[in-house]
Amino acid sequence: MSAIIPAVRGALPLLGNMGALLVGSPWDVTEGWLREYGPVASFAVPGARWLVTKDLSLIRHVLTQGADHYVKEASSMAPFHDLLGGGLLSSDHELWRRHRAILGRAFRVDALRGVPAITERAAARLFRRWEAAARAGEAVDVGEGFRALTLEVIAAACLGMSAAESDAILPRLYEPLVAECNKRVWHPYRALLPIPARSRYRAGLRELDALLVDKIAARRRRGPPPEDGDMLDMLLGGLRDLPWSRALEGLICDELKTMLFAGHDTSSAMLTWTVHALSRAPELLAQLRAEADAVTPGGALPEYEALRGLDLAQACLKEALRIYNVVPVVTREAARDDQVGEWSIPRGTKIMLHLQAVHRDPENWEDPGRFDPSRFREKSPGYRWIPFVAGPRSCVGQHFSLLEAKLVLALLVQRFDLEAAPGNSDLRHRYQAPITPRAPIRALLRRRA
Ligand code: HEM
Repeated sequence: MSAIIPAVRGALPLLGNMGALLVGSPWDVTEGWLREYGPVASFAVPGARWLVTKDLSLIRHVLTQGADHYVKEASSMAPFHDLLGGGLLSSDHELWRRHRAILGRAFRVDALRGVPAITERAAARLFRRWEAAARAGEAVDVGEGFRALTLEVIAAACLGMSAAESDAILPRLYEPLVAECNKRVWHPYRALLPIPARSRYRAGLRELDALLVDKIAARRRRGPPPEDGDMLDMLLGGLRDLPWSRALEGLICDELKTMLFAGHDTSSAMLTWTVHALSRAPELLAQLRAEADAVTPGGALPEYEALRGLDLAQACLKEALRIYNVVPVVTREAARDDQVGEWSIPRGTKIMLHLQAVHRDPENWEDPGRFDPSRFREKSPGYRWIPFVAGPRSCVGQHFSLLEAKLVLALLVQRFDLEAAPGNSDLRHRYQAPITPRAPIRALLRRRA
């Protein structure tokens, strides 16, 4: 027998529950529904009915054992489709399988040995800028700095771009494209109306594609890609048995844009929230500093394996992901009828897996609002902590991201004393994901002796 899934009250004809979703932050509103109706509920938006859940067994089923029965939900990714095309984040089936195998290898822990040196260079650049602000007694915009740093790191790791090249190209060319896609999530008509933003977007996309095609052509002229090269080399090596075509070249461009997209705003938001939480926790900062002094003495990079010692730094990042939920939900669609325990899920059902609700549920975490990294120094939290989800479609960049961020954090606390500037708050952007602070988080820095 199937359980009846409660429907959220107050749905209007045609509009469904859309009004409520638009009034608050959609992630907080849907989390509230799960508190009120239980671990699985359903709601309506124009043209579709959604199921939303924080039930750990249902989430585990959709992400792992039952993953073959589910595909990415198309409308959630639609605004990004022009930009990301057939890249890993938005593709399915055979194309996804082939590229996931290649990129999965490229992002394995033992393939990331080049990342610390790239990160350290980018951090040194950022900290020179921040030192000047510290000397002038000015607060720094933490999010802005980390965005530039993570973009520089991902562009170097994927494309071998120098800092000067990524500075000159990406903020001008790439960031406005992502900003337009984000606007289209809530204003989809922007993609259809003949407004200047639409032609600017198209021209920008053409320019970016042309630049990436040039980079790919230059690599191919250099001969067979080295085994230990960057992500572009890994892609070219992994696809070398396929006949070369414009379509294949386009797919490689899509993967590169996907990496730039998925690999910097997420990591910089995680770092920003972590620094925000730490700026209010002086004892933790002191412990972090002691850890950093032991692992990266005087800011020097140790052997790759020794970076594992940045255990507390990693725990702080994980706790920030739990509390601030940079990616609050992921969405799927049932590709066939499914039965999960007492729940019947007909083909075509759209499902919102509510990571934020899992992370803030007092049934999963004691006193969930308290920032306490020691939660991650004990046993594995299993499905109670899934910011990178799990299973075959888990985040391919999770080790990359934690490696980069824990090193940045260690080098930062080692070099500076930091204090929150007045006015910082926990308020999160209402609807844009990855979720950044609503207003800039600013910090007052002092160079340590
Ligand atoms: C704090 C940092 C990050 C968080 C919280 C995060 C979170 C996630 C989540 C939740 C997904 C699953 C999306 C879904 O199933 O709809 C995902 C997928 C993905 N992430 Fe990340 N991510 C982070 C950093 C990165 C980085 C640094 C990269 C690249 C270097 C990256 C690349 C990707 C890609 C390519 C996918 C698609 C994987 C697939 O479907 O096979 N992410 N990420």
